[in-house]
Amino acid sequence: MYKRTHTCGELDKSYIGEKVILNGWVNTSRLHGKVVFIDLRDRYGKTQLVLDETTFINEFDSIKKLSSEDVISVEGIVKIRDGGAENTKMKTGAIEIAVSKFLLLNKASTLPFVLTDRNSSEEQLRLKYRYLELRFDELQNNIITRHETYQAVRKYLSKNNFLEIETPILMKSTPEGARDFLVPSRVQKGKFYALPQSPQIYKQILMISGYDRYFQVVKCFRDEDLRADRQPEFTQIDIEMSFVDEETIFSHMENLTRHIFKSVKNIDLPDTFPRITYKEAMERYGSDKPDTRYGMELIDIKPFTDKSEFKAFSNVEFVKAIVIDSGAKFSRKVIDELTDIAKKSGAKGLAWMKFQDGSLSGGISKFFSEVLQKNMVKSLNLKNDEIILIVGDQQNIVCKTLGKLRILIASREKLTDKNLFNPIWVTEFPMFDFDEKSDRYVAMHHPFTAPRESDIDKLNSEPATALSRGYDLTMNGHEIAGGSIRIHSPEIQEKVFSLLGLTQKEAVEKFGFLVEALRYGAPPHGGIAFGFDRLVMLLAGTENIRDVIAFPKTTSATSLMDESPSYVDNNQLKDLGLKLDSN
Ligand code: AMO
Repeated sequence: MYKRTHTCGELDKSYIGEKVILNGWVNTSRLHGKVVFIDLRDRYGKTQLVLDETTFINEFDSIKKLSSEDVISVEGIVKIRDGGAENTKMKTGAIEIAVSKFLLLNKASTLPFVLTDRNSSEEQLRLKYRYLELRFDELQNNIITRHETYQAVRKYLSKNNFLEIETPILMKSTPEGARDFLVPSRVQKGKFYALPQSPQIYKQILMISGYDRYFQVVKCFRDEDLRADRQPEFTQIDIEMSFVDEETIFSHMENLTRHIFKSVKNIDLPDTFPRITYKEAMERYGSDKPDTRYGMELIDIKPFTDKSEFKAFSNVEFVKAIVIDSGAKFSRKVIDELTDIAKKSGAKGLAWMKFQDGSLSGGISKFFSEVLQKNMVKSLNLKNDEIILIVGDQQNIVCKTLGKLRILIASREKLTDKNLFNPIWVTEFPMFDFDEKSDRYVAMHHPFTAPRESDIDKLNSEPATALSRGYDLTMNGHEIAGGSIRIHSPEIQEKVFSLLGLTQKEAVEKFGFLVEALRYGAPPHGGIAFGFDRLVMLLAGTENIRDVIAFPKTTSATSLMDESPSYVDNNQLKDLGLKLDSN
């Protein structure tokens, strides 16, 4: 190999006449008479090479056979391209290299897919050959965006006195909500470590140890059902602070988020981020991570349906609607599809009416008198060619269903402006959610989240209505961060464990060390964790979390490239004292 003097993205007219050495991949190769033109590529760009038959009398046959992704090394002189051949879009577009020495470093086999069009092959195939997929500009740009985001995070936090501290990857199994990934111990057979779902407990203990501003860019592991923005192993920017309240945390996190968006993508976020309570978010958007880039808010129309002849809604608790601009164009087929989605999310059906040529028509409109229709049009400020989609049921079903339809329709109708970034804090979450399946309360955030001061008494009287000091930072319909002010009193912590159904013994076994630590001078503290991958998704403008992770897993938690998870040798199991259940 000739050692490169420059990269493929660097040379321009100022290098004319210089002798240079380039290494890289053959991007394209074309034969024009007795000359081969090659676009040589590396991660910095592409440079045009010219290899002339007269210079390479003996090697020209093999040069002609060069194909995509062969790795070569060349030496040559930088020349100006012929007038008409200049490519003004590329930094190297004005020059080419007249090659005098050539080495084939490695021949590439026939590729499993073309590297010019990412969409021309199935994602499964691309994930199997991830090393090839990572050569696409799109993924390279995402990886660079990710790198720049790490740097921006570290720069801001370090400058503001946050210490980066690593915490263990092998820890005690203390489920936080999802299932743990377990690691068997060889030395202590029958015992297991767990991979951290987050470093939550460690960061709280660091506060007790006096490290009042901590952060870590850290891998977290959760064995849960995967979605477009979820991976079994993902990265958090984990943060904790002592002697703070919500306002201090919000102010730092807004500054951090602004700094990231500005330095990575030159995007200006608002000076202060708006806030909404959980209750209001659910009522207005049917979601605890509202996408506020578009309207279509949920409207209460029970006062109208109550006066109508439509009896299916007369006994339901809530009737709400969303109004869609130009939705009157929705065909019967589209409405049926939307109805199916509504049913899947628990609603009994989806009612609708269209507003066209000054009057309501279709769907359930015939059950509304002329006067009632007029009142409705006026009060909802309906505009021509709109459609109203209506769900009546219990509050949670109504909100959830319309929330889902709102997102889906926004995406269908292309209402999601990719250049708009709308951060919004969601606050005042309930402490607990009642889980019907297990017939018990579960922590809405996690068991270490403090109740609001004014709601501490409710832990005894009516825990279901107690609100917490938890908060989420959301943006464009994604939860990009979640956190809370923590419980720092051992008594309240024990009370919360008992409400979550942990017996005294279980609480001591699982979290005894934390409760004990709280007794040795725990400062008031709180924190947050950003989903780093989700943040990079937004910065990179993709809806697929796999596009921002170098080696991601599929939705069945498999790595198609190295085929993990895989079976292990019986001897390995024996060493660990494990036996597989043959059922
Ligand atoms: P939480 O569980 O809300 O809080 O997680 C914080 C953020 O991590 C991201 N996230 C994920 N990203 C990708 N794949 C996943 N499977 C996944 N799960 C979560 C989300 C989420 O907002 N210890 C607390 C934080 C704290 O209280 O300080 C915690 O982990 O963007």
